Amino acid sequence: MRNRTRSDSLVFFGASGDLAYKKIFPALLAMARRGKLDFPVIGMGRSGWTRDQLVERARASVTEYGGFDAKAFATLESRLKYLDGDYNDVQTFEQLRAILAQCDSTRPAHYLAIPPSVFPGVIEKLHVASCTREGARVIVEKPFGRDLESARSLNDTLHRAFPEDHIFRIDHYLGKEAVQNMLYFRFANAFLEPIWNRHYVSKVVITMAENFGVKGRGKFYEEAGVVRDVIQNHLLQIVSYLAMEAPAGTYADAIRDEQIKVLRNIRPIKPEDLVLGQFSGYRKEPGVDPASRVPTFAALRLFVDSWRWEGVPFIVRAGKALEATQTEVVVELRHAPPVVFSEDTPERSNYIRFRLAPNVAIGIGARAKRGGDEMVGAPIELSVVEEGVQGAEGRLGDYERLLGDAMEGDATLFARQDIVETAWSIVEPILGSDNPVHEYEPGSVGPTEADRITAG
Ligand code: BG6
Repeated sequence: MRNRTRSDSLVFFGASGDLAYKKIFPALLAMARRGKLDFPVIGMGRSGWTRDQLVERARASVTEYGGFDAKAFATLESRLKYLDGDYNDVQTFEQLRAILAQCDSTRPAHYLAIPPSVFPGVIEKLHVASCTREGARVIVEKPFGRDLESARSLNDTLHRAFPEDHIFRIDHYLGKEAVQNMLYFRFANAFLEPIWNRHYVSKVVITMAENFGVKGRGKFYEEAGVVRDVIQNHLLQIVSYLAMEAPAGTYADAIRDEQIKVLRNIRPIKPEDLVLGQFSGYRKEPGVDPASRVPTFAALRLFVDSWRWEGVPFIVRAGKALEATQTEVVVELRHAPPVVFSEDTPERSNYIRFRLAPNVAIGIGARAKRGGDEMVGAPIELSVVEEGVQGAEGRLGDYERLLGDAMEGDATLFARQDIVETAWSIVEPILGSDNPVHEYEPGSVGPTEADRITAG
């Protein structure tokens, strides 16, 4: 296995930013709590801060998001360094190199928790200042471009300084315990394999519903829209986990090699397989064009042209300002023939459900006879896994898992270049779609026009 040496320091750009506050400090604290934070952490920022200010920011962050723990925080504090400087100035990066030398770090992991527009400059200067020598890694946050062309250009930029197996592109969905559990359940249970195909599955429905709007991120959202924001990345990754063949072994790229085969076999999306929506009130959000056509909801029907899945619709729905926050996958099975009993079998009788958020659950849908004279049934759901919203003890947070894996050099849960680019080529035809954008009421289930997609 290549590239499995452990990074010996973490340099994170954007230390004074929002992502650091909400995700990175809490993940570092969780690592400290488990005794895994045994490397220097160098925060990089351009806010004119001192190290003390960074420590206070870290304390506020973990108090709000991580559950303050004095002992773990003392470890985090003892590991934390801070370098403030201009990302356009090569001197900042020379200072960074000096700090790395002081820490005896020869294999830093550079985490770019910064806007993509700043990536090229930072990568180039890291390179010029010799911070990207053999053994160095880079961790990048989405968006990985905004279409195929810009994704390729970002990849070229990254490859000028790092080989592909030293690049860790974060799709935080892959770090989620529930997504891991879905993959595990699929391949750890032999009873699923005989039915996991076009002969038994009638359709697969993947829904990512959020009951909030764009949370003040109107400017960002205008550039993105629902397809770029969550479908090109999170939801296509889930489609590939559901549809892929069993990985051929445990070599490092076994899973990603199967994911890419699925994505390459997704049929080009036709306009009739897409319904777009926008919640009423979106256009009044700060930073949003009053005449915006940017979709905040999409329902699409995908087909994976493979031996296993030919003809089975994969329905992907995602939207903001819907009635509830819920992400789930329902794999619907074909009906039992209705010849034995006189009742009409409802549409969704047998299914496997993977609830990914807000709680984690796996359930199997079946029908059982109701008590009484008649041979009439009722739906039941067998619960395989059912966790409360707070999650189980010992569960790793998504960022903790991903940062830990990147430090270890395990790239399984990171988006590989070919996966990112193929995912862009799948959605590209619908990015500039002329399909109407239907208005829907906040708190609803989305535009009613989407029902025809959901029907399969
Ligand atoms: C992000 C999107 O990638 O994922 C957000 O930019 C979305 O719009 C978020 O709300 C959902 O992630 P999670 O982990 O809260 O389900």
